[in-house]
Amino acid sequence: MSEIVVDGEPLPFVEGQTVAAALVAAGRVAWRTTRVQHRPRGVFCGIGVCFDCLVRIEGTGGQRACLVQAVAGMTVTTGEHDDE
Ligand code: FES
Repeated sequence: MSEIVVDGEPLPFVEGQTVAAALVAAGRVAWRTTRVQHRPRGVFCGIGVCFDCLVRIEGTGGQRACLVQAVAGMTVTTGEHDDE
């Protein structure tokens, strides 16, 4: 099983999984909060429409985790300002 690096920690994934699928499979249902009310967000639509699943991937923010396929060694950062 391969691993991505999420917030500095290794996270295993199955080939073909998206970053969001890997996070959910690891038990993480929320990985950022909304900007104003700080409400938890993770996967909602799962098809790239709602933007709830935003993460920073390889230093680029605003990436929809449900659309990006996990690649071994990929660095992912979660947090409340990933939509900037
Ligand atoms: S879960 Fe809706 S865009 Fe990713």
